[in-house]
Amino acid sequence: MPPESISPSNLKVKRKHGTSTLAKFTFGFAYLILISFHNPTDSGAVELESSSFDELISNTELVFLNFYADWCRFSNLLAPIFDEAADKVTAEFPDKSKVILGRVDCDRQSAISSRYKITKYPTLKLIRNGLPLKKEYRGQRSAEAFFEFIKKQLENPIHEFKHLREVLNIDETKRVFIGYMSNNESKTYDTFRRVATNLKDECAFYVGFGEASRTMHPPDNDIIAFRPDRSRSVELDETFQGHTESFDEVFAWVQAKCVPIVREITFENAEELTEEGLPFLILFHHPDDIENLRKFNQLVTEELMTEKQNVNFLTADGKKFAHPLHHLGKSEKDLPIIAIDSFRHMYLFPDASKMTDPGKIKQFIADLHSGKLHREFHYGPDPTDSTALPNVKPKGTSPPESTFKKLAPSNNRYTLLRDEL
Ligand SMILES: *[C@@H]1O[C@H](CO)[C@@H](O)[C@H](O)[C@H]1NC(C)=O
Repeated sequence: MPPESISPSNLKVKRKHGTSTLAKFTFGFAYLILISFHNPTDSGAVELESSSFDELISNTELVFLNFYADWCRFSNLLAPIFDEAADKVTAEFPDKSKVILGRVDCDRQSAISSRYKITKYPTLKLIRNGLPLKKEYRGQRSAEAFFEFIKKQLENPIHEFKHLREVLNIDETKRVFIGYMSNNESKTYDTFRRVATNLKDECAFYVGFGEASRTMHPPDNDIIAFRPDRSRSVELDETFQGHTESFDEVFAWVQAKCVPIVREITFENAEELTEEGLPFLILFHHPDDIENLRKFNQLVTEELMTEKQNVNFLTADGKKFAHPLHHLGKSEKDLPIIAIDSFRHMYLFPDASKMTDPGKIKQFIADLHSGKLHREFHYGPDPTDSTALPNVKPKGTSPPESTFKKLAPSNNRYTLLRDEL
């Protein structure tokens, strides 16, 4: 879509400052003169409204949004800082099709705020090529920090290789997309670049132009290829077969491959993963134990795909995540360990070496959802024979408490939760 279709005038820009009517009247003339030199709508964050919102986000690569409420103290504190950041960004990146800092009045624009499930103010969210990032901005709230954040977001995430051999040396722990293209002026490359900006945190992107990739694609046909993280997954290389110029098509394909079904949990991404709200099924393994990692991946892809709406499949470095193991009464020497964290409790899978026994892990997950895991912890094993009397012998204990819920976003940041109003 042509970036020219967006101009500040159709964004319904509105600046809101506490100027009184009298002051407005008094300064009216001066204002009229000023406006001919400097359009005040160009400064500060752009006030967004539902009517123009869709057009704006689909025509702008990066939209950084401040969801605020007028009555919220923290929103009012943030407003001038965010405006200052907007001015810095506009000065450095004047192209409105690249980046816009906007603000959304959540009381008046409830259609927008409910679409993004805004529950606290102010919430800062980034939208790239029309798609919101799941995690909200949680960095420092200063004009400088916002500016640096935007600058970083606008960096081209694609690594260009000059020789094919560089591709062979790419780290095998990464999931990689490689463009073999004739030059960087094509629509295909622009599409690839935009898709890469959306998924750069999840996987790696490489491109080779001209001579660097000549032998890898037909002369008039650019190619995008996927190479899985060979060190842990059991997937195969693949080439994109759709329209390489279509953002939607390329994005859908890359996204499906980019975010693997089994992910590694780290201290950096734990908070985000908890936000997804699904119980964790975690393989804790020794960092050098690639064998069990692959086994677990294979198990999930071959047997557990039907469970992917119900649980999050994760792996964890058992040395780094010693704390949850300790919680389960285990330590590094007991690795590998499989456990479920339901965000209320943790449950240990009896014997990780039996993970590939047909149906075993599937049953473990089913037992979580049926409540059996929790029940058995209190009352001992469920009777296997339905005619037998239930062996109701309370152990008076509870399963270990969840350790991962502590990594979930805190309610005590300087924002107000809607529930607390
Ligand atoms: C393409 O490459 C040339 C030379 O490196 C560079 O000057 C130009 O900005 C690039 N264009 C794009 C769209 O990246």
